[in-house]
Amino acid sequence: MSEVRLCSVSDVEPNSAVRVDAAGHRLAVVRVTDGDGADHWYVIDDRCSHAEASLAEGVVWADDREIECPRHGSTFELETGRAITLPATRPQGVYAVRVEGDDVIGELP
Ligand code: FES
Repeated sequence: MSEVRLCSVSDVEPNSAVRVDAAGHRLAVVRVTDGDGADHWYVIDDRCSHAEASLAEGVVWADDREIECPRHGSTFELETGRAITLPATRPQGVYAVRVEGDDVIGELP
């Protein structure tokens, strides 16, 4: 495991995602902001397990903590990477993430 700075907090709008290529991984860094204004961060593989679309270009469903693939509409659980809706059936990889100051830092294999 290695810790890698992925982006700045300000690079990711609330309830959205950005694609980050880091340490050989293609990742979606996701920021979910709840009603109290608290941020929750997730890092999930960006390449959809169904047909390789970029999840970072999809919709973040903040209340459900899911991200929807922009190509065929599969949704994935941000916490676990589990595929919730077809056509995707295989999970996405997910990675630990934390924020230090303005840095979003992922723990990557
Ligand atoms: S490419 Fe993501 S659901 Fe098909």
